[in-house]
Amino acid sequence: MPSDRKFSSILVPTVDTTRYSWLMTTLLLMKRPVMFCGESGTAKTVTVFSAFRQLSSETYMFLNVNFSSRTSSKNFQDIIEENIDKKTLKSYGPKTAGKKMILFIDDLNMPIIDTYGTQAPNALLKFLVERNQLYQRGGDLELRDIIDTQYVGCISPPGGGNNRVDPRLMSLYDVFNITFPSKESTQKIYSSILRKALQEFPEECMAPIDAITNATLSLYYQCCEKLPRTPVKFHYIFNLRDLSRVYEGLLQATPDKINTKSMLIRLWRNECMRVFGDRLINETDRGLVNNDIIGSLIKQFFSDVADDANVNPILFGDYALSDPTDDEKEDPRLYEDLGGWEQVATKMEKMLEDYGFDNKPMNLVLFNDALDHLTKIHRIIRFPRGCGLLVGFGGSGKQSLTKLATFVAGYQTWTINLIRNYKEEDFKMDLQNLYKEVVTS
Ligand SMILES: Nc1ncnc2c1ncn2[C@@H]1O[C@H](COP(=O)(O)OP(=O)(O)OP(=O)(O)O)[C@@H](O)[C@H]1O
Ligand SMILES: [Mg+2]
Repeated sequence: MPSDRKFSSILVPTVDTTRYSWLMTTLLLMKRPVMFCGESGTAKTVTVFSAFRQLSSETYMFLNVNFSSRTSSKNFQDIIEENIDKKTLKSYGPKTAGKKMILFIDDLNMPIIDTYGTQAPNALLKFLVERNQLYQRGGDLELRDIIDTQYVGCISPPGGGNNRVDPRLMSLYDVFNITFPSKESTQKIYSSILRKALQEFPEECMAPIDAITNATLSLYYQCCEKLPRTPVKFHYIFNLRDLSRVYEGLLQATPDKINTKSMLIRLWRNECMRVFGDRLINETDRGLVNNDIIGSLIKQFFSDVADDANVNPILFGDYALSDPTDDEKEDPRLYEDLGGWEQVATKMEKMLEDYGFDNKPMNLVLFNDALDHLTKIHRIIRFPRGCGLLVGFGGSGKQSLTKLATFVAGYQTWTINLIRNYKEEDFKMDLQNLYKEVVTS
């Protein structure tokens, strides 16, 4: 468990991560550029960072750059130039004296392909990796040597919407294909995470750890198999990230609230439904995951607590005792089963009324589906780095429910108002204002 206890920084060493990070560090010590290529969610980024951790931070500094479709070659050059200094007459090197710089570019295939079939930042990168030189932009167009700099990259293989990267660039790197971690590795990763997290829980919660991991993996493999991606269901992508999300949810458990096996399995069922079930677009698919697959997994792995675990509605959240209007009050916020519709409705009615004191009152009818959605949105907001995309017809309450859920979570809402001709510049201005507001408030 990392010292900052952030889920996103947990890394469980497995055969795969150890093998690939060994390869990477060995090659980097030989001054070779290294590239990992693999589908989304195959732990490329995680492995690179784990390799970096093995390199001495006294010798190396790391510069991480994420390419996006909007990255231009000028952006890229600016980032490099911000991090290098003049060393001798014509050579430039890392700002921190005496250190070597490792330039890590994630998502190398992202930049847009221009009219001439080129990805401009990658063309620049090829020049840089091949010759260790860069031309000055403007001025005398001086050709500068870039010293003490090495290169690492990650890309997704071409196809399925991913761009093809110039093979002449790829040929400069030592390229490794990263495959999806084996079943054993995946099992090891997630059992270890859960075992560590549930250390102080009662014995009956520790016992089903392996069964939970088996059930989650089985759910994951069944979803991959039975819910293929199609043009309409283009977002049916399941990978390690989803498994991680289920576990991140399980890690919200505290021994105060989740202290029996049936509670834990109920929590597991909730997390699986949220992560795998909520994105599905029709009743058939939702029924398949929420009832058929999860239902039969519960019967298979946890038949002794199946009756408790399967009770509907299933609503988990940490707002039962919280009161965002009272700054003084200590806010316990423990993730727990919120009970039935009535309890949640009573709490939410009160919240809605409180919301109306300081904000423009909203006239919402909190029927069961609305409560369900509220709890789902609230759960996403409360998760660290949580982000959600609500898809639905106009007037289905996406905005008002989000406002209320944000209020319940004790956060503030910030909205971008889309106007006619809203451009990238406007978006950047909006972001600037948002950052200013975040810093000053
Ligand atoms: N050994 C591990 N220990 C802990 N978590 C892991 C491990 N391997 C993978 N993960 C989890 O897998 C998820 C995906 O990993 P990562 O972000 O590195 O994928 P990626 O290959 O870089 O994907 P993308 O191409 O989309 O960027 C992460 O959320 C991480 O939590
Ligand atoms: Mg990545």
